[in-house]
Amino acid sequence: MKTGYAAALAGAAMALPAFAGAAELNLICSADVVICEKLVTEFEAAHADIDVNMVRLSSGEAYAKVRAEARNPQTDLWWGGTGDPHLQAAADGLTMEYASPSLPQLHDWAVKQAEVSGNRTVGVYTGALGWGYNTDIFTKKGLKAPACWADLLAPELKGEIQIADPNSSGTAYTALATLVQLMGEDEAFDYLKKLNANIAQYTKSGSAPVKAAARGETGLGIVFMHDAVSQKVEGFPIAVVAPCEGTGYEVGSMSIIEGAQNPDAAKVFYEWVLTPEAQNLMPEAGSFQIASNKAAKTSAEVPDLSNIKLIDYDFAKYGSAEVRKALLSRWDAEIGGRAGE
Ligand code: G6P
Repeated sequence: MKTGYAAALAGAAMALPAFAGAAELNLICSADVVICEKLVTEFEAAHADIDVNMVRLSSGEAYAKVRAEARNPQTDLWWGGTGDPHLQAAADGLTMEYASPSLPQLHDWAVKQAEVSGNRTVGVYTGALGWGYNTDIFTKKGLKAPACWADLLAPELKGEIQIADPNSSGTAYTALATLVQLMGEDEAFDYLKKLNANIAQYTKSGSAPVKAAARGETGLGIVFMHDAVSQKVEGFPIAVVAPCEGTGYEVGSMSIIEGAQNPDAAKVFYEWVLTPEAQNLMPEAGSFQIASNKAAKTSAEVPDLSNIKLIDYDFAKYGSAEVRKALLSRWDAEIGGRAGE
């Protein structure tokens, strides 16, 4: 993996004959940076002939980069991040059709992602939306444990909640689309306006809110439950909640970029990262999603989806360009940039 100074040095070294022939892979990784780096390190150890340049971007930012580069793609492969922007990229023709020979080894929810996109994306992991709150802060301030979406509107929670901005973050877009599917669109925006009064900050990255809650910078972060679990496993005083009214979930996805300069290297990584061995690296890196290969291990910390009231999330609809664009514009017009008002 090359970043910063090392990348500059390696770039200079590219002119030397010793480096001739080493393939490059330009990767966007939209999951947590720790698993992103672990995957790259382990992949490079197994494939010494492929040199990976990785950048970590939130899902919405990754979509925007792939779109901006459409005429001259600088990215070969996009791994992780919520499925909705991957589906939008597929619909825009920004990602390549590729029917992986590994599809029969994957869970149905991962294969469905390929089916609805004409094989332009595939599921790599899944996990449900919820929140994590700091039990020390809640106890000290005498705040009621929040079990339901409705509880987050309590006036005592003013300034205690963080969530990401749905333009940059797939987590926050999943929250927006979840509330719309749970309540209806107008009711969801009404809820979000009320919730806005309790929001201290809209962050760029989806998991930042619960990292802030873990460190006592805020009381509660609306995030994927597995991101709250990661903080709890690290020893922070975080309680993990599945909202009582029901909740949405993501199918974290992977796509090869249309017109990629290194499609062969992209396919090598693609197949490797779908193996159970590669997916078993996730819990080791503190990533507690359910992995898409049926033979991958599920660690005890992974939230059990069968105990969570899940909505029937309509990925085709909420990953469509039309609906995603419309919801984000409405969020910008009615909610964005007004935290705490
Ligand atoms: C975290 C989660 C992933 C999710 C990602 C989305 O890393 O662990 O499961 O796909 O957030 O990131 P974003 O910043 O786009 O919300």
